[in-house]
This record gives sequence, structure tokens and C-alpha cells, in this order.
Amino acid sequence: MLAGKRILLIIGGGIAAYKSLELIRRLQDAGASVSPVLTRAGEEFVTPLSVSALSGTAVHRDLFDLTAEAEMGHIQLSRSADLVVVAPATADLMAKMAQGLANDLASTLLLATDTQVMVAPAMNVRMWDHPATQRNLATLRADGVKVIGPNEGGMACGEFGPGRLSEPDEIVAAVERQLADGPLKGKRVLVTSGPTHEPIDPVRYIANRSSGAQGVALARALASRGGEVVFVTGPASVAPPDGVEVVPVESAHDMLAAVEAALPVDAAVCAAAVADWRVTSASDRKLKKSKDGLPVLAFAENPDILKTISHLEDGRPSLVVGFAAETHDVLQNATAKRKRKGCDWIVANDVSEGTGIMGGTENAVTLISDAGAESWPRMAKSEVASQLADRIAAALAKD
Ligand code: C5P
Repeated sequence: MLAGKRILLIIGGGIAAYKSLELIRRLQDAGASVSPVLTRAGEEFVTPLSVSALSGTAVHRDLFDLTAEAEMGHIQLSRSADLVVVAPATADLMAKMAQGLANDLASTLLLATDTQVMVAPAMNVRMWDHPATQRNLATLRADGVKVIGPNEGGMACGEFGPGRLSEPDEIVAAVERQLADGPLKGKRVLVTSGPTHEPIDPVRYIANRSSGAQGVALARALASRGGEVVFVTGPASVAPPDGVEVVPVESAHDMLAAVEAALPVDAAVCAAAVADWRVTSASDRKLKKSKDGLPVLAFAENPDILKTISHLEDGRPSLVVGFAAETHDVLQNATAKRKRKGCDWIVANDVSEGTGIMGGTENAVTLISDAGAESWPRMAKSEVASQLADRIAAALAKD
């Protein structure tokens, strides 16, 4: 998926630098060529010889290297790549980037480049949590730098928390996502998927049978067309696809908050089976059997995420797509639902018993839009996703 792509890989000085060797391999396996840059601190953790041997090319190390400068000046080096990846990005490197310092080769390249930059931070958890690092992170994000990770887990220093370098596979997936070509390149698309869980007490919840299969297929189809996909998913049984930003949530309330945080987007596709009600009397202690009788649950209506997005006054996505799973009068109900929710398209399907659609691999849908109702033949959910993604790309291309 990265055939012909050129990656400038800046390796900072942290214990996680050893993973950059594996990263070079994985990027090459995906078809990319890698030009490595090793900081002075990076050389303390991996040797220029290993980096050079693995990448099959010279390692750039020095700002004032006359030979290197004669072969390819640092300005040209900073701009000759399709993507600049900093892995591991140390707290120090991130601080330099945020401040615009240029006192060694890595920081000078990062200041001189006009290419997209992606950083994969790795540092001790306290350094990551420090307000200075968080300030720098916010500055970098505002400057358009993409951030991968860090992951949470045990660290070489013996502490536990966020600060671990993302795994090479995760970094390659993010690079592929960034460089994917296709009709949705440059478009940001939100997909909600899966069921929601509404707590009754800390161990019990109300849920539904949604597997998340159609939402996963859609997210995959949108990402493979070059879209930047934010995938907000409830606890689904089908795993999220690679190459999308996954935001796991539990309840409808969490889902709405995650959706609002993901805005603005060019298109929103609400495939989630959001619970209509939540338990207002949810207890923070496990409910116990009692001689006084059965527990009584009080319910309140959940926020309607699709309706909320459709009625945004500021920053409404150009295209909002909802789903309508019905067991009878499919067309009538779905047409009314489109009006009620205010979305542009409704994808309606019959989930009555005997169709095998709920939880199955196939779907038979009708696409309802301003143009009327269009019934598609029964096909695999992945095929429904492909055709819908093509329609979404075509609609956004008109903007
Ligand atoms: O009203 P109903 O649940 O049938 O509507 C289905 C559509 O509305 C789906 O697109 C679903 O994702 C969305 N929805 C929502 N928030 C809710 C309920 C449904 O986004 N609370």
C-alpha cells in the first residue's frame, strides 16, 4: 500500500529507538523507501550502522556534513519525502518542534519541511503528563502535525501509563492512512458503529444485538478510498478495521461526546444501534436481591446523535447519512425517519426475523434521499459498504 512512497524517518534518542529498526523493515515491506535521520541522542540507542544496513541507504546525522550537504542539501532532504515520520519523538524533540528551534539536523529538517509531519511520541509517563509536554503537543496539533499514540502500558523505566511508543504495525497503518490515495483523500468522515451499553449498576447493562459488522465494513471502505475516518464504536463483536482512528465508547452519552469531539467532518455516517433509553436510576453499587421486592428501573430518553448532527447550525457536515433498521413498513417508516431526523440520506433495511440480516453477512438496503428511494439487490455487507462509500465520495466531490 506504500509502493513508491518516500518516508523521511527521524529517530530520536529514547529507549524505544530500537523499535525504529523494526519500523524501517515494516515500511519497506509495505513498499516504501526510507531515508533515516539519526539524532545525536538517537545514536546512543541504535547505531548508525544498523540503521544504514536495514534501510539500505546512508544515515543522515550531521547538519554541517560537507559531503552529505554536497550530495543533497538539508533543505532538499526535508522536502524530498512524501511524509516525515518522527519515531520515537522524545519530549525534547517535541519541545524543539513546538518552539521552532533548529540547532541540529533533525530539528532543522522539521523546520524547513513543507511535507506533512507525523510524530510517534515515546517518553516516561510523567514527562508525557507534564503540562509543558501537553502544551507542546497542543501546539504541534494546531500546527497540523499528526500524532500517533503513545500507547499505555509498562515502560522500560518500570512505571506504567501512557508514553509507550506505538507498535511498528500501528505506525505503518497510520502512515498508510495518511498517504492513501483515492476519491476521499483530504475528506474527514465520521462513522458511528456498534451497540451502546447503558449501565444499570457497575456490573449490569442494557444492550442490543448489533455486531457492528456494517459499520466496520463502511469504515474500511471509506478509509480505502483515502478518507480520514474517525470510527466511534460501542462495544461491538466485530473488530475495528486498520487504518482508521478508533474511539471506543460505552453509552449513548459517551458516543455523543466522542462525536462532538470529532467534529468538524465532511460527512457523518451513523451506523450505530444507539440505545433509545438509559437507566436514570443507575446505581454506583451492585444492586442486591432484597426481601423488599424487585428493583424498579426508571428510564430517560437518550440523546439522538444523528438528529443532533443533522441539525447543527455551525459546521453541519455536508452529508449526513443515517440507517433505519425496520421490521415492517420499511419504506414508509424510513422515509418518515429521514424527515424526522433531518439527515440527507437514510439507508433502510428489513431486519425482520427470517431475513437473517441482523448479525448476518448480507444486507438488502434501500437508499432514500432527495432523489427518491432506490432499492439495491441483496449483497454482502462489504459490497453495500463499497457502493455506499462510492456514493459518498461522489456526493462530496460535488461540494
Ligand atoms: O430512531 P432509530 O434508532 O431507528 O434511528 C436509526 C438511526 O439513528 C441510525 O442511523 C442510528 O445510528 C441513529 N441514532 C442515533 N442516536 C440515537 C438513536 C439513533 O444516532 N439515540
